[in-house]
Amino acid sequence: MTESKLYIEGGRKLRGEIFVHGAKNSVLPVLAATLLSGGQCRIHNCPALSDVFSSCRILRSLGCKCRRDGDTVEIDAREISDYEISEELMREMRSSIVFLGAIIGRLRRCRLSFPGGCELGPRPIDIHLAGLRKLGVKIIEDHGVLDCTLSGTVGGADITLNLPSVGATENIMLAAAIGSGETVIRNAAKEPEIADLAGFLNACGADIVGQGTSTVTVRGVERLHGAEYTVMPDRIVAATYMGAAAITGGELMLRGVRPADMYSTVAVFEQMGANVYPYSDRIYISAKKPLNAVKTIRTMPYPGFPTDCQPIVMAVLTRARGTSVIVENIFENRFRAAPELVRMGADIKAEGKVAVIEGVSRLSGAATVATDLRAGAALVVAGLSAEGTTTVSNLHYIDRGYESIETALRGLGAKIKRV
Ligand code: EPZ
Repeated sequence: MTESKLYIEGGRKLRGEIFVHGAKNSVLPVLAATLLSGGQCRIHNCPALSDVFSSCRILRSLGCKCRRDGDTVEIDAREISDYEISEELMREMRSSIVFLGAIIGRLRRCRLSFPGGCELGPRPIDIHLAGLRKLGVKIIEDHGVLDCTLSGTVGGADITLNLPSVGATENIMLAAAIGSGETVIRNAAKEPEIADLAGFLNACGADIVGQGTSTVTVRGVERLHGAEYTVMPDRIVAATYMGAAAITGGELMLRGVRPADMYSTVAVFEQMGANVYPYSDRIYISAKKPLNAVKTIRTMPYPGFPTDCQPIVMAVLTRARGTSVIVENIFENRFRAAPELVRMGADIKAEGKVAVIEGVSRLSGAATVATDLRAGAALVVAGLSAEGTTTVSNLHYIDRGYESIETALRGLGAKIKRV
């Protein structure tokens, strides 16, 4: 059965209100952490995403009970029967590497296959492994399998990451939460999703401070217990819908968001000339005037401009007046939306870390292919403003990070359907 495609008739201004679902990049490590809790957990504001379903499959394969009830996921992690994640499950979702720290923390043993590279280029885990080894985890890497053992409890360590890796920070927090020593993580990632994971772990009885700063301290505790927790809203999905409003000259109220996580993203939309009004839990955006180019955008670790928003903002800038320059500092292969946008009439020259975008007065609909999650979202955003019909295939990438993107956009007046 061939995979479905999105069909988008561009040229309609988006208007209305949308509730932004829970953050994929928070719910994934939080679901891994439920395994560490050893108890019964209820996680609210869980988005219906394929990566979330994959995480539930991994939890079940390890012996947990996992049940969805609307946007709440109930996990019973009291009985764990396995410490190994199958290669098939590891390949299904690259970020399942975050289960490594949770399984080691709970069972002192873990076997999993190297996470496949992904569309953004090789996804090394050297920083994860260096940190875990400093905690005393013995890791044997051979034939693409990681075999990890920890004798005794985690005695704490002073770990400096050689770059503020989100996943490595999360894995070390998970592996160090149960233990008898104090673990200091320096040059830690400061993304809000790290603070969300720490929030959940502390609700389970962990003792973590400094989350959101570059030094996170985890004081090991004897054991954890289950907890109830609500996951933060997805700041990248919010930025995507802001892009859809901006490129179509529409106006949008985003509900259930946390503007405090989005200053650098909001700043870029303001530089484009959109009117953006952040309130406590919502953001209003309108773009009545044609957009201006943004001289230079550099993706940086949080609180800098997020790499995940870069493809989406690139799509919007194809319609802005003037020349914009984007420097992608985080991933080495993250301009993959560019050739597809060029097929739609965009004027983009991407070379290494730098992309130069000359705004054009119109985009024309084309048959396009999503190459990764955010590049796929960028094509949808561009299609909303292109004349004629744009099709986007490889929707499985988009479904990893967006809950029924066509339903959300149709609710805002877009002519879009999945066939
Ligand atoms: C998380 O990936 C997110 N994924 C990514 O979102 C996001 O783009 C990224 O953080 C940066 O913000 C999840 O949270 C599930 P990193 P992660 O470790 O943890 C290099 C999306 O679209 N690196 O901070 O894998 C790495 O190659 C996804 O939702 C090493 O060299 O990101 C990259 O260049 C895409 N060695 C940079 O660091 C390591 O051991 C940042 O990676 C680890 C990372």
